[in-house]
Amino acid sequence: MVKMCGKIYIIGIGPGSSEYLTKKAVDTVKASDYTVGSTRAIELFDDVQNTIAFNVKELVDTLKKGVQLAYDGNTVSILSTGDPGFSGVLNTVLRLSGEIGFPKESIEVIPGISSLQLAAARCHIQWDNANVMTFHGRENIEEILPVINNGKTTIALPSRKVKDMAQFLLDNGVEPTRKVVVCERLSYPDERIVEATLNDIATSEFTYMCIMVIY
Ligand SMILES: C[S@@+](CC[C@H](N)C(=O)[O-])C[C@H]1O[C@@H](n2cnc3c(N)ncnc32)[C@H](O)[C@@H]1O
Repeated sequence: MVKMCGKIYIIGIGPGSSEYLTKKAVDTVKASDYTVGSTRAIELFDDVQNTIAFNVKELVDTLKKGVQLAYDGNTVSILSTGDPGFSGVLNTVLRLSGEIGFPKESIEVIPGISSLQLAAARCHIQWDNANVMTFHGRENIEEILPVINNGKTTIALPSRKVKDMAQFLLDNGVEPTRKVVVCERLSYPDERIVEATLNDIATSEFTYMCIMVIY
């Protein structure tokens, strides 16, 4: 007998404020049997059926549960902050689906506005000409060094505290007077855009929710 699987939507929810949610995201969640995401992400939706919230520690197990529900015939929306394909859950969901045997043709990605895009917009940067880098959840910070002096603006998701990332750049010979803009908690009421020198950023405190723009 042929197994009838359901459908998985991997949905980008934008940087955080409901103003940046797409209509496609709202309509898809509304029509889904289950919606999987962080509490913060789920709270953005008014019309949602069964919800499965996760925190970072249990992320993979919860995503697996979502894929299994789709394998069993349900329509499942999986929420990812910003865009799912930029340091989001896309690859993890694809891997888990492969392990469970859920067909890739039944997975649809619905893009969202990335925090990177909103940072570029706030700073009036045409980002097709920027070094776009993510160090989130990775140990690849050295990869910034070959590009940091290539004449382009660098927009980066930090891997660690912003001030530690700034210190890393200083320790590796980047000019202390280099202009940096930190875009913190973009789209939230307490959004902060801080412009300073690299030296000053290395002694400043920020939350983990930041994009660094290095000019
Ligand atoms: C797991 S990554 C997800 C990135 C997401 N897929 C995107 O496209 O924006 C989480 C990191 O994205 C950045 N981030 C997400 N939302 C943000 C916001 N509203 N303001 C600033 N940075 C944000 C922060 O660096 C945060 O640590």
